[in-house]
Amino acid sequence: MCGIVGYIGHREAYPIILKGLKRLEYRGYDSAGIALYDGNDIKLSKTKGKVDDLEARVAKEINTEGTLGIGHTRWATHGVPNDVNSHPHYSNSGELVIIHNGIIENYEPLKQELETRGYVFKSDTDTEVLVNLIEDIKKNEDIMLGKAVQIALNQVVGAYAIAVFDRSKPNEIVVARLGSPLAIGIGEDEFFIASDASPFIEYTNNAIYLEDEEMAVVRRGKDVKIRKIPDDSLVDSYVQELQLNLEQIEKGGYPHFMLKEIYEQPHAIGDTFRGRLLPEEAIIKMSGVEDNMKKFLNANRIIIIACGTSWHAGLVAEYIFEDLARIQVEVDYASEFRYRNPVITENDVVIAISQSGETADTLAAIKLAKSRGAFVFGVCNVVGSSIARETDAGAYTHAGPEIGVASTKAFTTQITILTLIALRMARAKGTISSSDFRHHMIELEMIPEKVEIALKSDALVSQIADIYKNAKNFLYLGRGYNFPVALEGALKLKEISYIHAEGYPAAEMKHGPIALIDENMPTVVIATKKGHYDKIVSNIQEIKSRSGVIIAIVTKGDVTVKELADHVIEVPETLECLAPLLTTIPLQLLSYHIAVLLGKNVDQPRNLAKSVTVE
Ligand code: M6R
Repeated sequence: MCGIVGYIGHREAYPIILKGLKRLEYRGYDSAGIALYDGNDIKLSKTKGKVDDLEARVAKEINTEGTLGIGHTRWATHGVPNDVNSHPHYSNSGELVIIHNGIIENYEPLKQELETRGYVFKSDTDTEVLVNLIEDIKKNEDIMLGKAVQIALNQVVGAYAIAVFDRSKPNEIVVARLGSPLAIGIGEDEFFIASDASPFIEYTNNAIYLEDEEMAVVRRGKDVKIRKIPDDSLVDSYVQELQLNLEQIEKGGYPHFMLKEIYEQPHAIGDTFRGRLLPEEAIIKMSGVEDNMKKFLNANRIIIIACGTSWHAGLVAEYIFEDLARIQVEVDYASEFRYRNPVITENDVVIAISQSGETADTLAAIKLAKSRGAFVFGVCNVVGSSIARETDAGAYTHAGPEIGVASTKAFTTQITILTLIALRMARAKGTISSSDFRHHMIELEMIPEKVEIALKSDALVSQIADIYKNAKNFLYLGRGYNFPVALEGALKLKEISYIHAEGYPAAEMKHGPIALIDENMPTVVIATKKGHYDKIVSNIQEIKSRSGVIIAIVTKGDVTVKELADHVIEVPETLECLAPLLTTIPLQLLSYHIAVLLGKNVDQPRNLAKSVTVE
């Protein structure tokens, strides 16, 4: 939530910050702003709306000279999205200017205290309170900005990644982090500051990722020194070499990131299992699992925690682990788990799933599980993310950057990793025979080419989307392994087309949702050959006999469902446990095409942000 960018060096800051904001817009896009320093004065421009709106405003409002600047793209937490609440925010004197990603939870008492001392607030934001708190401390104690920031941050409760500079100190930007990501790109006599490395990838491959409770005063032409916020102690900073490349964060000829990411799935899934899935040697190699095999084998149960699409991947994993590794699995929303006083023991293995690795609820749930003695294993996509660092061990999905707000390749690569873990565990426990183990590996290895085939349904799916784009409600049904796919299909449709959709286990339909069925409500049924096929066929008949419309996802060559359904979309045959990797593809395409046909902003749906770093 919210993207922050900063630059200090020898180049013009504005084009770097503007491009950086466009790359970070997936993090939040209800307003945007920029502050530049030209050696004499701060020039600030901000607006409700997108970064394009900011660009238009800047062109009218300010001259963009200056080699120091900060920029922000916002996802509102405190105060509605409007010009005034947009970042950057000035302090009362106009001497300090700040951008912030996160939430200051105790901003109310701090604000009241500052008001008694004469401070006046223009916005409804917690951020304006923070910049004035810093100003108040700096003024009263007559200290440098860095020190004032440190003292102020020790008084705040909440989460932040901030960048702040002082009109009287035009050669430095102070940055700090707690709970929200912040990277410092290190160039030749220049520094870049950003929520992730995408804004500066074409300038440098070297970056320092601040850890929680760390801050730095980034000075023009000087080395970066990182300090701990609580006690001001110096930290040994670690300069990482970035693995990202420009191609990965650009649309590459696709109209939307979401479509690009849907089409990247064959590669992404292959990248996820490359070097890990070795059918010829009959081995699954995953160091994070191998090193902790005892924990996995001695576990009484596995608890999976996640949010949104990652939670759906967890539900698929529940079936896989129980089926293959014969271990009890519970899947919980991280947001519920963290506040539920859950029963956790040292014999539980907790698997936390998160694309971004920054989801606040998942992070808090991990901390809770760890505090109760559980071993926590992370499945993340973003390398070096907070969740990757907070977990005891883990495995990256290696899906490459996912920029579209609607998760697509994250889902299939998470399922891939979880399948590998379940298979590895099953082999070690002896709950799968060696021939079955090999068979599963060979089938998994064939998934990328089968996803390619599933993607060929694109044109057909687009025609179906055109027929049903004006429906007000959709029902998605699936059983067994395909039940979570139904949930995921419904979520995809809701989030990018704003059409109400519900995912349901097909058999549960009779217990309520069947009342909704009429000729105006399309039902998407996942009816692949393996796993409860006959039962699903009965469910389809029940819907048809109530004038319902059926869009069915079927196994190639299906005959029975073809006769009953209004539309069928075929996917290749695979093992039952691998079916979600294929059946999800047409559902992603369906939501994509409906959203495009309705003229929605596919990559930046309203009210959503890519990483939900607030509760
Ligand atoms: O980064 P995470 O996987 O932790 O994110 C979890 C959810 O916020 C995310 O999956 C969200 O539901 C997506 N917008 C779904 O497409």
